[in-house]
Amino acid sequence: MTDLSTIRSEALGAVQAAADLAALDAVRVGVLGKKGHVTGLMKTLGGMSPDERKAFGARLNELKGEIESVLEARRTALETSALDARLASERVDVSLPTRPEGQGSLHPIGQVMDEVGAIFGEMGFTWAEGPDIEDDWHNFTALNIPPDHPARQMQDTFYLPPRADGTPIVLRTHTSPVQARTMLRPDVQKMLADGGSLRIIVPGRTFRIDSDATHTPMFHQVEGLVIDETTHMGHLKGCLAEFVQAYFEIEHVPLRFRPSYFPFTEPSAEVDVGWSMEKGRRVVGGRQGWMEVLGSGMVHPRVIANCGLDPDEWQGFAFGCGIDRLAMLKYGMDDLRAFFDGYVRWLKHYGFRALDVPTLSGGVGA
Ligand code: DAH
Repeated sequence: MTDLSTIRSEALGAVQAAADLAALDAVRVGVLGKKGHVTGLMKTLGGMSPDERKAFGARLNELKGEIESVLEARRTALETSALDARLASERVDVSLPTRPEGQGSLHPIGQVMDEVGAIFGEMGFTWAEGPDIEDDWHNFTALNIPPDHPARQMQDTFYLPPRADGTPIVLRTHTSPVQARTMLRPDVQKMLADGGSLRIIVPGRTFRIDSDATHTPMFHQVEGLVIDETTHMGHLKGCLAEFVQAYFEIEHVPLRFRPSYFPFTEPSAEVDVGWSMEKGRRVVGGRQGWMEVLGSGMVHPRVIANCGLDPDEWQGFAFGCGIDRLAMLKYGMDDLRAFFDGYVRWLKHYGFRALDVPTLSGGVGA
C-alpha cells in the first residue's frame, strides 16, 4: 500500500515551496486534481474489503482535508504578499492632469431650476414636487376648473386612458396641481394650525399638445405658493420683484403687473419684464417693450376650500412661470426645441460646469 505519510510530507513540502499562485495551482492539480495522487488513491477504495475501505477511506479523507486547508492558507499568504508588493512598488501621481474625456455638463434647465431654488430658498421657500401623470381632480377641479369650464380647452391637454378604478388622468398641464397636493398634506395642515406659514416652489415638467420654436410638448414650469393668514398682493409684488432682480442679476428690472384671469386666483395678474435691443438681441432690462414672464394672483377662496382650509382664515398668493423661457431670456438661446434634441454640441455650448452650484452670495448665474 502506498505510504500516506510520504504523500503527505511531499504534498505539504510542495505547498510551502510554491513561490506564486500558478505554482500553487500546479501542486493542487498534482495532488487533488482528476489525475492527482490522492484522487488516484480514492479510486482504489472500490477494490478493497469493507473493513479496509472504512479504515483507509477515513485516513484518506483526513489527508485530503489537511492538504486543502494548507493550500488555502498558502493561497491567502501569496495573495497578500503580491498585494503588498504592488502597494510598495506603485505610486499614485496626484499631480497628473485628469483625463479630459467623458466630462459632462449640466443642462440649462437643471441649472435654471437650481438658480430659482437658490433664490427662493433664501426667501424661506422649500422645494415641493408632484407626479407628471396627474389625476383630473388635482390638475383641474381642485384649482376651480370644473369639468365644463372653458379653461380646460385652453390647456391642450394630453388625456390618458383612465385608471382601473375609472379615475380620469392626464399628463399634468401645469405645476399648479402641486399647490393642492401640498395644502392637502396632513403635516402641512398641522403646521398651519400650529401658526406656521406655507411657502413652496414647485419646479417640474409639464405637458401640452403644442410645438413650434417657442413651444414643445414637454416643457418646464416653476410654481410658487404662499399660504398664511395675512399675506397679500403687496407681498406677491415684492417677492416677484426680488426674484426677477436676483435671477437676471440686474437692479431695478422694469416690471408690469397686468390684470388678467386665471380660474385659481382672484385677483390675477400677468407679469411682464421690460426689455431693450442690444446687438440685435432682446435683453431683459430697459423700456423698449414688455415681455410676459409669468402668471400670478391671490389664491382663489374656492381653491383654499377645495384643499381643506377655511378661506375665511387662510389666504395667500401663487404664481407660475415657464422655466424654459427664463433660461432662454438669460442665456440667449432662441429655439426651445434645441433644449430637448440632445445634440452634444449644443449641450457643450450651453451646458454648465457640474460644480458651479448657484448661490446668492457666490452669484446665481454662470
Ligand atoms: N398654471 C398657469 C398656467 O400654466 C400659470 C399660473 C398662473 C400659475 C397664475 C399660478 C398662478 O399659480 O397664480 O398657465
